[in-house]
Amino acid sequence: MISPEKKMDLLLSLCKRRGFIYPDSDIYGGFANAWDYGPYGIELKNNIRDAWWKRFVHAREDVVGVDTPIIQHPKVWEASGHLATFSDPLVEDKKTHKRYRLDHLLEAQGVDVSGMSFEQMAAKANEAGLKSPDGNVLAEPKQFNLMFKTFVGVSEDTAATAYLRPETAAGMFTAWKDIRDTMRKKLPFGIAQVGKAFRNEITPGNFIFRTREFEQMEIEYFVKPDQSPAMFEMWLGEMKRWVEDVLKLDPSHVVYKEIPEADRAFYSARTIDVEYHYPFGQKELYGLANRTDYDLSRHQEFSGEDLRWFDEESRERFIPHVIEPTWGLSRTVLAVLCEHLDIDEAETSEEGEKEPRMVLRLPARLAPVKAAVLPLQKKDGLADLGKELAQKIRAAGLVVEYDESGSIGKRYRRQDEIGTPLCFTVDYQSKEDGTVTVRDRDAMTQERVKMDDVVAFIQSKIQ
Ligand code: GAP
Repeated sequence: MISPEKKMDLLLSLCKRRGFIYPDSDIYGGFANAWDYGPYGIELKNNIRDAWWKRFVHAREDVVGVDTPIIQHPKVWEASGHLATFSDPLVEDKKTHKRYRLDHLLEAQGVDVSGMSFEQMAAKANEAGLKSPDGNVLAEPKQFNLMFKTFVGVSEDTAATAYLRPETAAGMFTAWKDIRDTMRKKLPFGIAQVGKAFRNEITPGNFIFRTREFEQMEIEYFVKPDQSPAMFEMWLGEMKRWVEDVLKLDPSHVVYKEIPEADRAFYSARTIDVEYHYPFGQKELYGLANRTDYDLSRHQEFSGEDLRWFDEESRERFIPHVIEPTWGLSRTVLAVLCEHLDIDEAETSEEGEKEPRMVLRLPARLAPVKAAVLPLQKKDGLADLGKELAQKIRAAGLVVEYDESGSIGKRYRRQDEIGTPLCFTVDYQSKEDGTVTVRDRDAMTQERVKMDDVVAFIQSKIQ
């Protein structure tokens, strides 16, 4: 059995070695907790994003998309409550000046912080004589706002202060009025957005799990107030199906945690955190919240615009309630990589040493490369035949790799490590009868298919 620490080490090295995720600004020694998605990483991330958009926007009559700016009117954050309350409790080691999250330090001491206010946590730390992990005295706890500040225009004064969005959700609320007035939708309906969000996290870490810049896929689903319990259940079901049918995460690795009232955001009538068993522990993957009429009411108050819905049947005007399913895209990439990385230690290298054999058993639909074409030999026209087949696959819009270098075993292994579901080998028989061998990454079966049928064969496997 491989230890969770070893699994994370192997995953990190695989991600770098095989072009999924590199440390950002590597030539400058890296920039802490910032990562570049390499050629395969961006394909995987885009495939997840596209599957999500197809499923929740294109395939549904009741959801429309939007794309709003990262820097919005500063009033948005006043109205949303982020300026006043979007903070984490921060403590600083007086000697090393390292900063920590107070709630994390208390939890590490076995204190249950659920439901505790900032003041209660500060009192508890005081009472227990809490020290930093290095054993030093801590300064008084502070509330630290997680929003990144910037300046818009040519002057760097408070009048020009703006913020990078800490969640994509706000854009759906600010665009609500225009969408309500132009899209001829009926309640319930949702607005979806995918994009970057920024949080000045006190303790980023665990690879791409918690970073200061990350991507979210969110839906704000507007409902009549009495529909919200049923619509909450509907979205919970949708989230479960996404996790199981698209990401193919083992249901036993996913926990749907009902958040008690004391731990919910004050405006939330119900919250479920979707948690995943990462190698470094069970932690949040997604969230589902009933945000009631909080956001639209606040934006109505701060903007002075009428954001109510007019219900044709009852002839009433009211502020819709909102069910918000939210999916972290970067965290999905991590969960998918952790789930599908299969490590087999028994393999022996050509030099006679044991070394881990790694296979990324990604769902075919999410795999960065759908197929590889490998000629058995470069000579005797096999390479030309292989290149021709690869071009045919590429022309059909499928991502394919042609590889003629190294032993066939090494080439299969390279493709296994990047999760390619199908490898087509061109051999001498191909020249005679126009067939190639197809090797299935997971079943390890080999069968022959006609070169003319290869595109349809791949398409049938990646649905
Ligand atoms: N609009 C609701 C909202 O933003 P959240 O729980 O704060 O709720 C939603 O964030 C999702 O965004 C999380 O479930 C997680 O997947 C992702 N996320 C949040 N902070 C993150 C970070 N620092 N790094 C990577 N992903 C993050």
